[in-house]
Amino acid sequence: MTMTSSPSASSAGGYLLDNAGDQVPDRWDALSRLYDEPTFRRFQEVGIRPGWRCLEVGAGSGSVACWLAERVGPAGRVTATDLDTRWLDRLQLPNLTVARHDITCDRLPVLRYDLIHCRLVLSHLPNPEAVIDRLIRSLRPRGWLVLEEFDTGCLDGACPRPRTEREHRANRIREAFTRLIEKRGADLGFASRLPVLLTDRGFQAVEVRGSYESGPSVRLLERANLEQSRAELIENGVTPADLDAHLDQLPRLPLLMPMMISVVARKWPS
Ligand SMILES: C[S@@+](CC[C@H](N)C(=O)[O-])C[C@H]1O[C@@H](n2cnc3c(N)ncnc32)[C@H](O)[C@@H]1O
Repeated sequence: MTMTSSPSASSAGGYLLDNAGDQVPDRWDALSRLYDEPTFRRFQEVGIRPGWRCLEVGAGSGSVACWLAERVGPAGRVTATDLDTRWLDRLQLPNLTVARHDITCDRLPVLRYDLIHCRLVLSHLPNPEAVIDRLIRSLRPRGWLVLEEFDTGCLDGACPRPRTEREHRANRIREAFTRLIEKRGADLGFASRLPVLLTDRGFQAVEVRGSYESGPSVRLLERANLEQSRAELIENGVTPADLDAHLDQLPRLPLLMPMMISVVARKWPS
């Protein structure tokens, strides 16, 4: 495989929600329930078929990589990369390769993939535009890029137009959580720039969808995120009483996740 990884992961220290910790299985479960089906629909829309070579960047639990591996079959190949492959290492599929790899700096093969997918990774990286350029170099002509990220700019809080104290509190805590992620270098307004970034780079058929989710899996994700970052939220001004009251009230809150922006674009031969 023409993919190499650096011994030390450059962005691991900056990532708030790392892949260790008791809350991680719940986070994977929630992300998969909320976002895998829409992601798979995007792959079907671009016409994924047996024999394709796919790259799944920041693959996390590997749920998307496994789906891809099944779709591309024995004639295809899926490479699933992550800074921290502890969840991916358990996967045993003959056409799936797992690689510890930092997408910001480790080598990627050139002109190799028919499909590259990256979900909830780019916004957390220090220079996402440079990473997009690296992904583009790794795509074959007529290959597809599917990029999916949250954008907090489209929604006014976890509970828009709050009326009750618990809804106001939910918004205060979501705001504090968002600030914490941004303090670590994330740009949660980045996703809305994706269409123009890709069009500027000569991509054709740039297609964008946005969706909001609510329901039990959103509450599961909220709890996992807040419990994992509890100490830092408190260090940054959230009171333990507010946080505990919010977690206690979660089952009664109609919380929304930020908008998930999903962009599909096709590389054109230059
Ligand atoms: C929020 S999780 C998303 C996981 C998966 N893409 C999903 O949507 O379910 C972000 C993942 O990106 C990985 N990650 C963060 N920075 C990375 C980097 N520089 N290179 C590769 N993976 C990275 C993390 O280790 C984590 O597994």
